[in-house]
Amino acid sequence: MTGDRNFILKGNICYSEGVHTLRTVDQGFLICQNGKSAGVYHSIPEQFKDFLVIDCNDKLIIPGLVDLHIHAPQYSFRGLSMDLELLDWLNTNTFPEEARYGDLEYAKKAYQIFAEAMKKSGTTRACIFATIHGPATELLMDLMEETGLKTMVGKVNMDRNAPDYLCEPGAQASEAETLLWLSHTRGKYKNVTPILTPRFIPSCTDDLMERLGRLKRKYRLPVQSHLSENLSEIEWVKSLCPSTGCYGEAYDQFGMFGGEEKTVMAHCVYSSEQEIELIKKRGVYIAHCPQSNTNLASGIAPVRTFLDLELKTGLGTDVAGGSGESIFRAMADAISVSKLRWRLVDSSLKPVTIEEAFYLGTLGGGSFFGKTGSFLEGYEFDALILDDSSLSHPQPLSTRERLERFIYLSDDRHITGKYVEGKRIF
Ligand code: GUN
Ligand code: FE
Repeated sequence: MTGDRNFILKGNICYSEGVHTLRTVDQGFLICQNGKSAGVYHSIPEQFKDFLVIDCNDKLIIPGLVDLHIHAPQYSFRGLSMDLELLDWLNTNTFPEEARYGDLEYAKKAYQIFAEAMKKSGTTRACIFATIHGPATELLMDLMEETGLKTMVGKVNMDRNAPDYLCEPGAQASEAETLLWLSHTRGKYKNVTPILTPRFIPSCTDDLMERLGRLKRKYRLPVQSHLSENLSEIEWVKSLCPSTGCYGEAYDQFGMFGGEEKTVMAHCVYSSEQEIELIKKRGVYIAHCPQSNTNLASGIAPVRTFLDLELKTGLGTDVAGGSGESIFRAMADAISVSKLRWRLVDSSLKPVTIEEAFYLGTLGGGSFFGKTGSFLEGYEFDALILDDSSLSHPQPLSTRERLERFIYLSDDRHITGKYVEGKRIF
């Protein structure tokens, strides 16, 4: 019964069972059977007795982290030029850099750095924006395939309100480039799948959105985009789409807002009650990106409301709005900004707890990819092995306390092992 993807990890195991419930098992046994979790036990059940046991000693073992929103071409300018708000930041920093990916040599250099960083990070699943360029997007997908991470990657669509050097010449041309990219990449990979990626409403004409809606239904594709991030952006969408009741409806009118195929929208900082109702009705996922919302002074998303209403919510780094690719950092930031919202904006919206933040970065976002983000029986075996021995403390700590400190204090060097669907990445 032993084999590549049949084994047992022994160590201090932590995983979410639900939004508010973190289970920890000290010196427990996490069973991997055919690449899926067969559960977590205090001793090895009889039927798994002949599985190889990998002893992780005193280390922590947690599910792989999920990044629901990251821009690969923006990795090159992370941590730079953070003094502008969204629309000026796009024009001044983002669009000139994204234009460079028309050059495959440059794309290769930059995307190799991105793929290497993602491989070393705690992330095992991610939704990734590329640029408008089909060939560079395919190259990014080739590189992500080699990392072994499970990712969805999108060629970006933009046919209006962009500088000439980054604007596709019309809806038909944008659709044609998307079709060509899809024909090259659909079914090409084990680990990477395409996701439709209209940048946001201001970048896409109605004609283009209608075409993308048809592609979505024809090829049954998921969708990723941005929603209600910034006040000026929302005013702009109102003037572009005067007949829609909310920003979300501007996607929904073209069938680009959840439903049969999954959709993930980044931000939702200023979603109205009407928009939140539509998000719930259509089962749209929210990628909460607290660091980006802070860096770009966008605002503080009401995550407590998302959780109370049981909206499908996970975390996103939104590099380069967010300065780094760490979902641990996103968990800590989700807690921090929720405290500011509670203190400064609405005292009825209680801060996010550590259990909830951990849930958001694992199981919450994980369900976008199916049964991922937990060690509950039947979930894909995505796991991280964490070594906190260098984060010394003068007292003995519980496993829960060690996990909490790890979220706040660790970096990639403390991640010593990573598995995706039972396959060891490092
Ligand atoms: N809205 C449209 N494009 C972008 C982007 O690249 N980053 C962020 N944060 N918001 C956007
Ligand atoms: Fe973004």
